[in-house]
Amino acid sequence: KRILLVNGPNLNLLGTREPEIYGSDTLVDVERLVVRVAKEYGIDVRAVQSNHEGVIIDAIHEARHDCSAIIINPGGLTHTSVVLRDALAGVPLPFAEIHLSNVFAREEFRHHSFVSALAEFVITGAGIQGYEFAVRRIAALLAR
Ligand code: DQA
Repeated sequence: KRILLVNGPNLNLLGTREPEIYGSDTLVDVERLVVRVAKEYGIDVRAVQSNHEGVIIDAIHEARHDCSAIIINPGGLTHTSVVLRDALAGVPLPFAEIHLSNVFAREEFRHHSFVSALAEFVITGAGIQGYEFAVRRIAALLAR
């Protein structure tokens, strides 16, 4: 089994980007954590980060051929992208929506997500640990 891990725009800057909001862990730390935890369950990970919406859409489409689930932190696309929503709706894979920060404790424009209603579950404000929990929960869902 394989999980597609998607990190959207600006998440390549993790660790140096507004660390008071997003913490000091880097994208490499996030990807390593997800790979390590998934391995506990015998699950592989394909990790993609892109600042380009179309690259993310293509990765989601590709996942339908060889992945069982998606973990996605769409970054700012969460609040703007009908295209992302349509891609996730168009691929029959369960997905988890993750945010490092608690989007509901922040600006109003971050309170709406185009993808939450389609997600299996949403984790917001748990930092990098949110990704760990997402892997464990997805492993449990896939084992059913
Ligand atoms: C984020 C929250 C979004 O509002 C923001 O645009 C991001 C990161 C998070 O992980 O907390 O880029 O998805």
